[in-house]
Amino acid sequence: MSKKIRISAPGKLMLLGEHAVVYNRPCLVTAVGQRMVVAIEIKDSHTFELEAPDVKVSGYTKVISDVGKGEIPKGAKFAEIAVKNFFEKNKIRDGLKITTRSEFSSQFGFGSSSASTVCVIKGLSELYKVNMSNKDIFDLAYKTVLDIQGKGSGFDIAAAVYGGTLHFVTGGKKIEKLSINKLPLIVGYSGLKADTVTLINKVAEKSKKYPEVIENSYNQIKKLVEIAKTYLIKEDLQSFGEVMNMNQGFLEVLGVNINKLSSMIYAARDAGAYGAKLSGAGGGDCMIAIAPEDKKQAVIDGIIQVGGQYVQVETNAEGLKVESLKK
Ligand code: PMV
Repeated sequence: MSKKIRISAPGKLMLLGEHAVVYNRPCLVTAVGQRMVVAIEIKDSHTFELEAPDVKVSGYTKVISDVGKGEIPKGAKFAEIAVKNFFEKNKIRDGLKITTRSEFSSQFGFGSSSASTVCVIKGLSELYKVNMSNKDIFDLAYKTVLDIQGKGSGFDIAAAVYGGTLHFVTGGKKIEKLSINKLPLIVGYSGLKADTVTLINKVAEKSKKYPEVIENSYNQIKKLVEIAKTYLIKEDLQSFGEVMNMNQGFLEVLGVNINKLSSMIYAARDAGAYGAKLSGAGGGDCMIAIAPEDKKQAVIDGIIQVGGQYVQVETNAEGLKVESLKK
């Protein structure tokens, strides 16, 4: 049996459809070049060890029979519950050492938790020769995320597993990889960390107060996602940008936009971007813009001038990958 494996998975950026995708509507998501890399080693000990320096977990050890039990530090939750779910499903209980390393800051909202969950499950399935399709990996990783945070569409897990640019519907009801080229996406980080569950709850509160308005907004966002998908396939980036701007209007209706993101979005548009919007839950994290090549630098400068941080990304990146396997 193999004893050691290294797996990597990409981070993600939501292109269109956030929040509505929590409620059975579609979204568009792209996998980014920055990856999460996870090493897993089967040990003779009866302990679970985790090193995840990017999320401030070091020297974390517990007996394997306690995995998933008791207080679990925030940074250890996803890897630990992924192990618990995989072991329970396959009736395994071995000692393990897991080390995670991220090529991107967990602050950006690129989906480091989902990517590490996916890597752990894929790594264990390879080590124990448990045959799992991408959809099986998606399903177990999605269960893991729901076990921990109770909410979420799973779009980030799909991006980590499949890579590319996906047309995705809640819970993986539909996962379609679009056959498109890399996108000239410009990403600006607001410097503020957003908490996804808090923002989902905020929108749910709004939906209680204005049910019809919010439902209608979800339906309009769904329409925009479908239109944007056709523009992406046709490589009509100007129209795609226009649809991004319209989607941003609905995110304002949902109440997840903030001043800082708005300044960055307007700076990008004023500098000649075809379109700009927030990406993900809102309340912080990143905004994205699409711009013609000759306006790219001006858009980046505009974002920086209003206090944003430019983050270079490759889009449409490769999904889950076995980096190395040792006996
Ligand atoms: O905060 P992020 O970047 O993980 O994006 C959250 C997107 C939501 O639609 C609000 C939640 C979800 O799981 O789809």
